[in-house]
Amino acid sequence: MSSPRSRVEVGPAVAQHYDFFMNVILLGYYPHLIRKVINKMDLQPELSILDFGSGTGRNDCLMARKIGPEGHIMGLDISKEMLNLSRKRCHAYPNIEFREQRIEMPLAYQEKFDRVFTSFVLHGFEDTQKIGIVNNAYNALKPGGVLCIFDYNEFDLERLWFPIRRAFIRGECQLASEFLKLDLKKMLSSQGFTTFKEELFLGKHLRLLKATK
Ligand SMILES: C[S@@+](CC[C@H](N)C(=O)[O-])C[C@H]1O[C@@H](n2cnc3c(N)ncnc32)[C@H](O)[C@@H]1O
Repeated sequence: MSSPRSRVEVGPAVAQHYDFFMNVILLGYYPHLIRKVINKMDLQPELSILDFGSGTGRNDCLMARKIGPEGHIMGLDISKEMLNLSRKRCHAYPNIEFREQRIEMPLAYQEKFDRVFTSFVLHGFEDTQKIGIVNNAYNALKPGGVLCIFDYNEFDLERLWFPIRRAFIRGECQLASEFLKLDLKKMLSSQGFTTFKEELFLGKHLRLLKATK
């Protein structure tokens, strides 16, 4: 069940226009940003990737170019609209598949993937659910595999320029504000992840956190 404090589950109308919203919010910078993020994921041909909350499939098509036809991507999402959009968008890549699946519920995958990727999803879950998601990622990764979380970095909301702070509070859910204060590395360590690397974007407000199993 999704938390009433979350907005990470999107309705049909938002799903249809999700990519457009992201482009507008970041003043057209989003496509460039997500390419930069994916470039930092150390992807090579033949890797297998599990994407938690795969959305419109935009990120999966970009990752597919890096891993080539011998690689494999599995995107999990619970929105039927998002799943339709992503299947249409990625139809040219037979090595990408999408499944309807709640990512906070126990998953069947054991040591199957080289990467677990999740972008702008984790902040929208209660801490107990986050632990379930991180645990699912840990189990799904092969030894030495990497969990790549692209989301808000830890920062002080009070220090943001007032109009941006207001937009964040109005546009984002309560859980997102709390996520800014979460020691994510500590949570990941508690679930068995050992080594961490981070790449920061947009004035250090966004982070790609890479945690190795
Ligand atoms: C903010 S969007 C991010 C989409 C994509 N990762 C991106 O960066 O473009 C959040 C996505 O997570 C999905 N989602 C929300 N709750 C979920 C859950 N419990 N299990 C699986 N997917 C979920 C939503 O349907 C939506 O596609």
